[in-house]
Amino acid sequence: MAQLEQIAAPGSEWWRSAVIYQIYPRSFADASGDGIGDLPGITSRLDSLKELGVDAIWLSPFMTSPQRDAGYDVADYRDVDPLFGTLDDFDTMLNEAHRRGIRVIVDLVPNHSSAQHAWFQAALKAAPGSPERARYIFRDGKGENGELPPNNWESVFGGGMWERVTEADGTPGQWYLHIFDPTQPDFDWTNEEVREEFRSILRFWLDRGVDGFRVDVAHGMIKADGLPDYTPPADADSMGGGEANVPYWGQDGVHDIYRDWHRVLAEYDGDRALCGEAWMPTLKQTALWVRPDEMHQTFNFPYLMTEWDAEALRDVIRESLEEFGAVGAPSTWVLSNHDVVRHASRLALTEENPQGDGIGPLTPNKPDTAIGLARGRAATTVMLALPGSAYLYQGEELGLPEAMEIPDAFRQDPTWFRTNGERYGRDGCRVPIPWEADAPAFGFNESGASWLPQPADWTAYARDVEEKDETSTLALYKRLLAVRKEHGFGSGSLAWEDAGADAVAFRRGAVHVVANLGTEPLDLPAGARVLVASQPFDGDALPVDTAVWYTTD
Ligand code: GLC
Repeated sequence: MAQLEQIAAPGSEWWRSAVIYQIYPRSFADASGDGIGDLPGITSRLDSLKELGVDAIWLSPFMTSPQRDAGYDVADYRDVDPLFGTLDDFDTMLNEAHRRGIRVIVDLVPNHSSAQHAWFQAALKAAPGSPERARYIFRDGKGENGELPPNNWESVFGGGMWERVTEADGTPGQWYLHIFDPTQPDFDWTNEEVREEFRSILRFWLDRGVDGFRVDVAHGMIKADGLPDYTPPADADSMGGGEANVPYWGQDGVHDIYRDWHRVLAEYDGDRALCGEAWMPTLKQTALWVRPDEMHQTFNFPYLMTEWDAEALRDVIRESLEEFGAVGAPSTWVLSNHDVVRHASRLALTEENPQGDGIGPLTPNKPDTAIGLARGRAATTVMLALPGSAYLYQGEELGLPEAMEIPDAFRQDPTWFRTNGERYGRDGCRVPIPWEADAPAFGFNESGASWLPQPADWTAYARDVEEKDETSTLALYKRLLAVRKEHGFGSGSLAWEDAGADAVAFRRGAVHVVANLGTEPLDLPAGARVLVASQPFDGDALPVDTAVWYTTD
């Protein structure tokens, strides 16, 4: 850890203000040329992240997995899937990142394993009531012969939440619970053996030197006693973001697990951190994950879900600072990840688009790319001025839109298959990113293969093209990150300013931040000296869908 001390000494609580860049390994950089990104690919591109100016990277899962949910179905929590490389490749990547002063967070998937996990395979072979079955949630079915599922819960990916097994003697048997795909059976977190196993998995990665974990489905691990029936409202968000009192989301018992993990991390030096993926309906509930003895951060999904509306944006920022502040935690900020429509498209949507629906060839009223990009850049300009930690998702620094025309034959997200094509799912935000305009697969690899097809017009977004253009999204992100660091925007507090109903305006020390979410240009004060603008403009009026950082001295 010696190299890291230059940027943040142990005890500095680096995660309070860090900018953390999410790498989706299968789509970042592909050294092997098989069309799927890998760890050596990441290592080879670390300099570009250093130049961008991020403090840490978070890697989506690269552990051994049959890839039924792009690696969020883990068969061995202590090894690297051959698709992505080896444990040695991981250690090299980690050391190379640390050498550049970049911290590394890995994804931990504790709600469910893959059906290929040795424990689940043993559970299938064992008898009802056995210790092997007790690591997962097996129940007898209802109906005369157990032919009906134990309750009416619906899977996040569509269809029922239960799968029936065939017992060793060939007869139809018990059912097991899976919040997601049937290939992702849920662990029973009331079982101490499961808890001990995950403490040991945490230690495995902490011992290798990781700086923390992003915890998948951190609101789902405990289910309500008795597994009572539950029917979500018709317009419910699949991950629970809009609903209260769901028997499989946000049950009180999950917090004991994180108190326990907090103690495990505290045994290590160097400020290791936990960040939860908990899609809770309110910020007050979200903040429960970051009470002082639990996680260090949790994703601010109410912020991510906020529409392009000035009042809504002001409200969610104010409430975030209040609610996270009330428990002594930093707020986090995030606009894009591998599960949602990229914000350079989402912010121009004119129709409802619940999480997981995605956008595809037949979606009506697709978002306008130019409006989306302007809003996306303005939104990021606001976000990176806010106190707290910000998450970026690979490709957003290039202004990538959602890939909206992926032909059906290439789709991979289980959501698409489980809903018979009713919901496109998340492939549109997962397409391999463009590095060089004129290279095969835009420089993603040397072979030209790509597990999802890259849109032909992504030439314009290639990193090498944007590097030469001082008005590019990449140039904007670099400037925002540099000025944010210089002025210490990640910590401290903000002072609200009034720039009218259609604006979001606040001050960070001597720097004023204002975004125009209205329909008319907005006058800036005389003498305003622009430090960064989300897009170039002439004169003293801030164009619509534009944000700026300025001083008046
Ligand atoms: C989380 C992940 C998502 C995955 C799901 C099941 O929501 O972000 O990609 O499909 O968990 O593990």
